[in-house]
Amino acid sequence: MTEQGSIFDGFEHRGVRYANRVAFSPLTRARASANGVPDHLQATYYRQRAGAGLQIAEATAVLPEGHGGIWTPGLYDQAQVDGWRLTTDAVHAAGGKIYAQLWHAGRLSHSSFHPDGLPPASPAAIAAQGQVHIAQGRVDYEVPRALRASEIDTIVLAFERAARNAMNAGFDGVEIHAAHGYLLDSFLRDAINDRTDDYGGSLENRARFLVAVLRRVVAAIGPDKVAVRLSPDTQAGGMRDSDPQATFNYVIDQMNALDIAWLDLVEGNNLVSRDIADGIDVAALVVRFKGAVILNHGYTLDMANAAIGSGAADMIAFGRPFIANPDLVERFRHGYPLAEGSRSTWYGGGAEGYSDFPTYRSNPTETAGN
Ligand code: PHB
Repeated sequence: MTEQGSIFDGFEHRGVRYANRVAFSPLTRARASANGVPDHLQATYYRQRAGAGLQIAEATAVLPEGHGGIWTPGLYDQAQVDGWRLTTDAVHAAGGKIYAQLWHAGRLSHSSFHPDGLPPASPAAIAAQGQVHIAQGRVDYEVPRALRASEIDTIVLAFERAARNAMNAGFDGVEIHAAHGYLLDSFLRDAINDRTDDYGGSLENRARFLVAVLRRVVAAIGPDKVAVRLSPDTQAGGMRDSDPQATFNYVIDQMNALDIAWLDLVEGNNLVSRDIADGIDVAALVVRFKGAVILNHGYTLDMANAAIGSGAADMIAFGRPFIANPDLVERFRHGYPLAEGSRSTWYGGGAEGYSDFPTYRSNPTETAGN
């Protein structure tokens, strides 16, 4: 299985060597403190999964009001930087590479995370369907508030500061979360963004917020350490666009102009299906991007090898399979069976269902389904 063109091949990109073409997809696991501080528990979990060529850590808020759920981590204060340092040191000691994913949940956040209790930030006062997990449990999304342009400037600076914090915490780079209906994605889409100022209307205006973030982050840490996550076909939070191909062609052109290193493209409707709707040509988006491409959503080993072998992607990211298989790359390499996790421990809690999964070699009698 180690012939040219498989996920097991090491490769170099922008002067950095990656051990293989498997990425660990960012997964919200909601085990930080209520102040967004990760600790030794996260360090253990990420160290166990350092066999991935590149790990992208879970969505991490750039501001208190950017959290998309209780116990999600942040990168806006020193305690969070110090907490993440435990993880990056552990991953590097295990030979891995890890990016931080910088996140503002926008209208999918909640007023209880806002220091002033303000409604969540959004292009427009249009509520999303669904629920967010806060200290009191799961509650419906609120009606958000349309950001003022001056507030957008503040959030751009928060992304820059979080990127600097990520580098100070020892991350190898950052991924800007511009997917899944969160703040930056919601500005891109004409179903949600009905603004009439410089941040709405034309494609250039709808992308202005994301492009401003990318400019600041690239200026702060360099383009070689920057990834952008896009999900052209997500319906999360009611995302829709009258012409997603044009929208994402434009975004990718802007990423190319900034020489950004990575596009992390989520196929299909996240958490639902990897099927791509009519009107979106993922292959054309991949070809358009000049840097390296990570594809993900619901890949099997065979699909991943086919995508790498054909040159459709540079890396394939796996999320859920990594939950119960910390040694996922080794299991793929040797054809070991995959263990199944339980959804009940995806979000919140402690080590159970998180950092207590054995490697196959340490427990070779395990059978799939344990
Ligand atoms: C989640 O909390 O379920 C979640 C977070 C970030 C994503 C997608 C899902 O991008």
